[in-house]
Amino acid sequence: MTSGLLPDLDTLRTREFPWEARGEAIHFDHASVGPLPQRARDAVDAFGVKRAEPHRLRAEDFNPILERARSLSAEMIGANASEIALTTNTSWGVNLAAYSLPLGPGDIVLGSEGEFPANVYPWMAAARARGFTFELLPLAGSATDEEAVLRRVEGDPRVKGVALSWVSFWSGARIDLSRIGTACRARGIWFAVDAIQGIGAARLDVRTMPVDMLACGAQKWLCSPWGSGFAYVREGLIASLEPPAAGWLAQASSGDFGAFLDYDPAWHMDARRFEVGTIPYQDIVGMNESLSLFLELGLEPVERHVRTLADRLVAWAEATPGIRLLTPADPAHRAGIVSVVTSDVHADSKQLHATQVTHSVREGAIRLAPSFHNTLDEVDRVIGALGR
Ligand SMILES: Cc1ncc(COP(=O)(O)O)c(C=O)c1O
Repeated sequence: MTSGLLPDLDTLRTREFPWEARGEAIHFDHASVGPLPQRARDAVDAFGVKRAEPHRLRAEDFNPILERARSLSAEMIGANASEIALTTNTSWGVNLAAYSLPLGPGDIVLGSEGEFPANVYPWMAAARARGFTFELLPLAGSATDEEAVLRRVEGDPRVKGVALSWVSFWSGARIDLSRIGTACRARGIWFAVDAIQGIGAARLDVRTMPVDMLACGAQKWLCSPWGSGFAYVREGLIASLEPPAAGWLAQASSGDFGAFLDYDPAWHMDARRFEVGTIPYQDIVGMNESLSLFLELGLEPVERHVRTLADRLVAWAEATPGIRLLTPADPAHRAGIVSVVTSDVHADSKQLHATQVTHSVREGAIRLAPSFHNTLDEVDRVIGALGR
């Protein structure tokens, strides 16, 4: 075993990613879409059979699936299951924050340039609808300018909220959630985080990283089906927040299938008040299996593994003339994404595709995003392909 890597990697790959163990492709594109482990595929397939023939569905195919998903999601981030609302994507979680946190005319919410649109447009729309101001701070190089955020949080009383991505989708730069969250908490202002590019690659623990609301689709680093994800809402906040949308499952009365017509609009007292209506069970079934794999492997070993792979990419990029590293070299300021600008990004991307290396080109850079099931040998092969 190479230090830093997960033990029994071959066994894991053969069992959960057999196509990868056979060498069919090198998947370095978790920042776009994560592969489904075999256990998730099997669960989705088995559920699909029951779904197609509903007489096969049993009570355990409904609520228990959702309860398990909230527990597993909570465990991933050190939260309580009562603080988790299941969502179908990240955008909905961002909207929950933008439309339900107490904000109004005269208030400013700080964002940053360079943010993925899912963490910009909901805030712009909510600002228009609710009368607050959404302001994008300029970047510091390829990263959010944390010093500028802190200066404004600490020195501008109009600032009532901060809305940032934990990890940048294009540069891979990671912000210091503890630092910004602690400053927000000290001023009693809101901190909302889009965490989709980090959770699954690095550890996020809300017990040490003070966040008020967090949004995370599970389709990327969490290797789960499209349509699965979760939002976290801090315990002490939930009861005071009015959900921006109503349905029939967000109410405390929704559990009583014998009394639908006794309308009682009182919300659930936990984060289920944000869940609105029917959740895509077939996707959540897959997410449950994927999250259980992460938790079995251990979040710390997974983080170490991903960092070991990313470290090698960073070391290569730094040592290679003609390659510009967009991602901060300091491991504390990155997670799983390593973005590089080569002398000919288009040709290099073509070369990677020709050698079955899945990756993305974002903002003029080649974005490499390996995860817990990738190997150092794969990293070396990707480096080799880029060396041409
Ligand atoms: C930072 C960030 N947020 C959100 C998303 C996706 O949003 P959604 O899950 O709503 O499709 C992406 C996808 O690229 C992203 O990089």
